[in-house]
Formats: sequence, C-alpha cells, structure tokens
Amino acid sequence: MKTLIYAHRGASKLAPENTMPAFELARAAGAEGIETDVQLTKDQIPVLIHDENLRRTTNGTGFVQDYTYAQLRLLDAGSWFSPKFSDTYIVTLDEFLRWFHEQPMFLNIELKTNVIEYKNIERIVYESLKRYHVLERSVISSFNSDSLVRMKSINPSVQTAFLTSTNMRSLPQYAKSLDCNALHVKHRLLDKKLMKRCHKQELELRIYTVNRPAMMKKCYQLGVNGIFTDVPHQAIEYRDLWKK
Ligand code: G3P
Ligand code: MG
Repeated sequence: MKTLIYAHRGASKLAPENTMPAFELARAAGAEGIETDVQLTKDQIPVLIHDENLRRTTNGTGFVQDYTYAQLRLLDAGSWFSPKFSDTYIVTLDEFLRWFHEQPMFLNIELKTNVIEYKNIERIVYESLKRYHVLERSVISSFNSDSLVRMKSINPSVQTAFLTSTNMRSLPQYAKSLDCNALHVKHRLLDKKLMKRCHKQELELRIYTVNRPAMMKKCYQLGVNGIFTDVPHQAIEYRDLWKK
C-alpha cells in the first residue's frame, strides 16, 4: 500500500504555513494531499491559520475570533517567515477551495476547536466543502471529539479522523466509538501494534509531523495510509528511494 504524502500546513518549510504560496508549492512538489487548520473570524468566516492568536504568524496581535475577515485581510502573514513573502495574507477557506477544487489532491481540514469551541464551525466548513464538491476527497480531523461527532451528525458520509498525541491502549476503539474513519497520531505513537489495531477496526492511520528520514522510512515500511510533513518534496524523494 502506498503511503500518501500530505503537506502539513502546505509546504511549510518552503513558504509561510497555511498560505497560498505554501499550498501551491505542495502541489508543485507532487504531494498527494494538503493538511490545513481552520479557525473562525468574528463574522464567522473560516480562515486558514494554525494558532488562535495572531502573534506568531502575522504582524497582528490578539485573537482571530475578535476580528472580522476584512480586518484580518490587511495583515501581513508572510514577513515573519521571510521578507520575500511580505504580500502574503491570511486566506479564507473559500478562497483556498477556489484554487484547490481544480487540483487533483486530497484534503485534510483540521478544525481547531480544542482551545476555542467556535460555534457552528462544523456546519460552516461542511457547507464550503460541499459547495466546491470536494467532500469525497476530504477528511475532517480534530483534537476535539465533540467536533467530530457534530460533523458526522451533519452528514454521516463525511470522513472524520480523531487527532491525538496521547498514548492510550484503546485509541482505535475510541476513534471507532466516535464513528471516525481514521486516526491521526503523533509520530512517537506509531508502532506495529497500533497499525494492527487500526486495521482490525478498519480505521485508516496517518501520522504527523513526519520530517525526519528515519521516521519517513518507518511509516513507509509499516505502510501507514498517510503522513503529514513540512517537507513533501523530501518525503516523495525518500518514498521513491525506499520503494526500489
Ligand atoms: O493534523 C495534523 C497536525 O497538523 C496536528 O497538529 O498542531 O500541527 O495542527 P498541529
Ligand atoms: Mg494541523
């Protein structure tokens, strides 16, 4: 089984995370998928940004939820990474999907509801994915199990994945109890036993964040369904190498 490569926040080693340049570079590198994080603005617009707070990846301060998208659109979301990206801005989920729906790629939307429970985010994201006809190639993940249950209640055919860095023996059973289709776990949790248990529960297994060659090799050898990596170009190169 081929392990699919998802660019984590886009090709986030080469361009500012969760921005259009990072997504475009992921596609150019040949990644099969893109992982991105969604939060909600004050006016309920889903935007692609990892942190609840603007400080780390923009020239703004305060929380995403306290600004309208029109306000956030003015921020510089690229200079923190390199002056080359000073005209890069926070993108809405819809603007991203306008580009994405024409790309032959898979999508992982991570609902960032583990710190702030954005009201109605599941429905809002679902409607966007539906509008762009990408639901069949999307998986919705979250550290917050309530979010995943809400997503399934909107439409049971939506693919969901429980996301965790916590090691517990019954992880696959727990994901199954939430009616999830997949488990997305931190790389140090990966071993043969987990693979077997996921298989038994008919769950897909994807691993984050896989940037080191040794971990890539482990993932490819065990045959996990997917990895999330900041360096999709390297992950593809190593996958080709180890296949031979
Ligand atoms: O979805 C996998 C991974 O992105 C989860 O952690 O903090 O990078 O969003 P984080
Ligand atoms: Mg994420």
